[in-house]
Amino acid sequence: MSAAPPDLVTSAPPVVEVVDLVKHFPVGRPPLLARMRRGAEQPQSVVHAIDGVRLEVSRGEALAIVGESGCGKSTVAKVLVGLLQPDTGRAAVAGHQIPLVGARDRAARRRVQIVSQSPWSALNRAKTIRHIVTQPLRVHGLVRGRKALEQRATELMEMVGLSAEYLDRKPLDISGGELQRITIARALAGEPEVLVLDEPTASLDVSVKAILVNLLSDLRRELGLSYVLITHELDIARHLADRVAVMYLGEFVEVGPVDQVFARPDHPYTRSLLAAAPSMDTLGRPPEIALRGEVPSAVDVPPGCRFHTRCPFATPSCREQRPQLEPRGEDRAVACLRINELPAHGLAEEESAP
Ligand SMILES: Nc1ncnc2c1ncn2[C@@H]1O[C@H](COP(=O)(O)OP(=O)(O)OP(=O)(O)O)[C@@H](O)[C@H]1O
Ligand SMILES: [Mg+2]
Repeated sequence: MSAAPPDLVTSAPPVVEVVDLVKHFPVGRPPLLARMRRGAEQPQSVVHAIDGVRLEVSRGEALAIVGESGCGKSTVAKVLVGLLQPDTGRAAVAGHQIPLVGARDRAARRRVQIVSQSPWSALNRAKTIRHIVTQPLRVHGLVRGRKALEQRATELMEMVGLSAEYLDRKPLDISGGELQRITIARALAGEPEVLVLDEPTASLDVSVKAILVNLLSDLRRELGLSYVLITHELDIARHLADRVAVMYLGEFVEVGPVDQVFARPDHPYTRSLLAAAPSMDTLGRPPEIALRGEVPSAVDVPPGCRFHTRCPFATPSCREQRPQLEPRGEDRAVACLRINELPAHGLAEEESAP
């Protein structure tokens, strides 16, 4: 067995640890007649949402997971906060094995909080902001007495840059950006060690987005938080994260320090993902591989390397052999069979499509 990629191993105990995580979703059912003809053993179709993901996040670190829609990012997020149970593999957050069940794990559950894309769906519109923000304090018995609750609520509002006047309002009375700050304040109320941020700015205007990204950056530094940031916006990953994991069809294909990976992407998929992101041109990196075609179905995943159907460098062996995430240099890892034969950056045009 090959050694663990060095970028996935840190000296201090990791605050998030995920090992060989697999999550498939059964979908549809063959029609009854077909099932009878083929026999009861006919396997049901499954969506390969996560297929063997492995990662570590150290204390105070921010890891971004990027990739196209449907590649499995939110499924990883949901497993980390216990909203989904993995089929196989292990996940632990702040020293507690996921899933967190029962009263014993109550204290552990507040150590990892999720902030998702839509604050509207996450908050009870009928309740006041005061009720929403203080709920974790009451549920976990963190603060007792009305005065102390009010004081903590005011503190939490200040942490997200809002005045205490907002406490009497209801979600419908405030803007989307303000509401996302409330979601963050509520997540912070449980004094988490890890925030899982699933497209936290996707529903916001550009200017509001920038303010929220700065807020998240400040909060991480001030509170020593660790982030698992899920985003399809690469510039947000670059701004907020230390490391990035590039995901394709349920697998990580490249992991490494965000500056290094974005400046010199190794995996053909990372190269094409960056080439497709206009805002990333500011790095001065030459456009490389055009991302062609649709992502294959997560039900019918390609054999071998899952990216081979879109990869200009694919050879017949890429269609048969499944690449593993292997160490590359000190702190990067790449899953590509042809990694040592690929042309230097910017030379993609020389290769022809499979
Ligand atoms: N409950 C479910 N039942 C069946 N399939 C699901 C379920 N949840 C997710 N999937 C499928 O699993 C795959 C991964 O979904 P996931 O939501 O994790 O992707 P994502 O990377 O977060 O996408 P997006 O960027 O669009 O949010 C997709 O093919 C999706 O359709
Ligand atoms: Mg998602």
